[in-house]
Order: sequence, then C-alpha cells, then structure tokens
Amino acid sequence: MRRHLALLLLGPLCTTACMRPAEQRAQLDIEVGRAQIACAGVEVAEGLAAVRALEPGRLALWGQAPALDLQIELGQDAPLDWRLEVANCMPGALLRVLGPDGSPVEARLAGRPRAAAQDWEIAFPAAGRYALSLAPPDADEPEAFRFAVLSDIQRGVDRVAEIFERMNADPEIRFVVSTGDLANFGTRGELERIQRELERLEVPFFSTVGNHELGEGEPADWHALFGRHSFRFRFHGVRFYLVDSASAGIDQLVYDRLAGWMAEAGTAPQVFVSHIPPLDPIGVRNGSFRSRKEAAKLLSRLSAGGVDLTLYGHIHSYYAFSNAGIPAHISGGGGAIPERFDGIGRHYLVIEAAESGLGAVEVVRVD
Ligand SMILES: [Fe+2]
Repeated sequence: MRRHLALLLLGPLCTTACMRPAEQRAQLDIEVGRAQIACAGVEVAEGLAAVRALEPGRLALWGQAPALDLQIELGQDAPLDWRLEVANCMPGALLRVLGPDGSPVEARLAGRPRAAAQDWEIAFPAAGRYALSLAPPDADEPEAFRFAVLSDIQRGVDRVAEIFERMNADPEIRFVVSTGDLANFGTRGELERIQRELERLEVPFFSTVGNHELGEGEPADWHALFGRHSFRFRFHGVRFYLVDSASAGIDQLVYDRLAGWMAEAGTAPQVFVSHIPPLDPIGVRNGSFRSRKEAAKLLSRLSAGGVDLTLYGHIHSYYAFSNAGIPAHISGGGGAIPERFDGIGRHYLVIEAAESGLGAVEVVRVD
C-alpha cells in the first residue's frame, strides 16, 4: 500500500520531467549573462554572453553574438580601473562605453590583439551604472556577408583544427554558427577542450547544443562556458535563431521566445539553426523529433513566421531538402563518425546572406 502511494505521488513528477526534458535548460538560459559581487554587477542584454569571471577590476565574457550590449554597475567600494576580457568576439569589434549621464568613457585595447578575442582597459571616472556595447563597425550595414555552418565534431576534436584552418583561409567568413554536438560525452572537460581548439579559429563560433552535450556533464556546464542553449542575434539585418532541440523536441518556454523573435523580424531574412531535424528526410537513423505531431507544430510555426532557411545537424552527412516549403540543410560534417557510402565526409557550409535575402549554400569539403 505504501509503495502504491509512493508511485501515485511520484507519477505526476515523472510525467512533468518526461514531458518537458528541456525545461531546466530553458530556465537556466534566463540566468546567463548576469553576475553580482559585493562591489559590482553585470547584465548582458538578452544573455548573449556567458560571464566567465567577475571579480573586482576584472570581467571576462564568452560572447554568443556578433554585437554585445551590457550594463556594469559599480558600487562605491568598486575599483575604477577595470579589465574587460571578451572571448569569441568579432575581429575588429569596437567598444563604446557610456557613463550614467551618457558621456563617453575612454576604453583602450590591452595586450596583443587576437582575432576572435579582445582585452580592454577601462578607467571609469566614478561609481555608477555604465552602458557598454561591443560590435564590429558594420554590424548594422545591409550589404551581403558570408557565414559558415559546422556541427557534429564529437570524436573529431583531435582533427578539428584542420577545419578551422580551412575556414581561416577564407577571409569572407564573418562567423560560424553550429547546431551543436561539439562534444562526444558532454563532459565539462570536453567542452573546455573544444573551447581551447576554438582559439585557433579567427572568427567567433556561435552554437546551440546537440544531444551529445546532454550526456555525462551537468546542464549548467554549457551555461557557464558557452552561455545560453537558445538565443537569437542579428547581423547585417539578418535574424539568426539558435534553438535547443537536443532532446528531440523544443520546450514550451523556447517556443514562446521564438514566437516573439519571429514577430519582431518584419521582412528581415530569418535563419533557424537547431540540432535535430524535426523530420528526417532520409530516415536511415530516424534522426528526427520524438513526436511527428510536434515536428508539424514547429514547421507550421516557422512557415507562418516567415523563416527563410532552416539549418540542422545530428545526421553525419549532408542533405538539402525542403520542410514546410522552407529550404533546409542538414550538415553534420564536423568529424563525428560519418555516414557510410554517402561520399560526403567532413565538410562545412558557407552561406551568403544580406538584409535583402539569402544566397546560395556552398558545401566545402575538408578531406
Ligand atoms: Fe546529435
């Protein structure tokens, strides 16, 4: 009887957890980009950077977007000389600092410049709330640019430097987006390893998570090192939505955010980036959402929201197809065990985009 009672009590808990396996990750997203110590606090707009360190006189961030806006609040006890370290940022980004009264505060680059990382020294004049923005000068220009897509590195991390070198040889690639599966087991050590490898890449790498990131690590590891699982950014008028589908579905909290993002997009091109395809066009590995009903729900929303391009990973090959009338590309060529007999192997995509629309998708073979 007691056992039956326990099952009755546990039943609803299990049902909630099983029905919304990504809810915890969606909730943790909200906390990304905020930190507080006794003398200072920081808040990054839309959580678009992970706060890697906040200590008196030093703030370290890992960026998740080409342009970052943040607020720093300095208390009366805070030091006034600060070092801002930003990893995974756009080469040539400029930092603008405005004081509580809107007057500019001088900031200068510190140390040896690195392509996708910058250190800045800021001498704040007094305690107060400061607005910082870090972006390349052309962030809001409408002209065409190119970005790359690379996913499913997993066991290929030992050779991923070769892919980064190929990307570095193309000066037109402004940044890389990824659907995830960067790690094989999802441990914190693996995530730290891929971030060390990313230091070789001369442009930033913006990624959501794949199912392999959910393996042996803690959900908070990704948040601490990379930032949000689901986020959006804009570059040259093009909207990018990186969405966590790592549990073969999307949490309701993220559906709600996605609806708001699409509603704000107007006529701007919209690119949806997510790990698991809602529908597997080939079916050999059944690499799709756990529910066809949910797949239909997502695709109908993307279509109604005017999304122009969907990019997926998870399947270790390359497929171009159409879902709900939206062009779709599956690219899982980052080095994970490849599909057999498809003749694809390691590869990445390069896509041209502009405020006026999206261009051709080029498949770049690495091997
Ligand atoms: Fe995957």
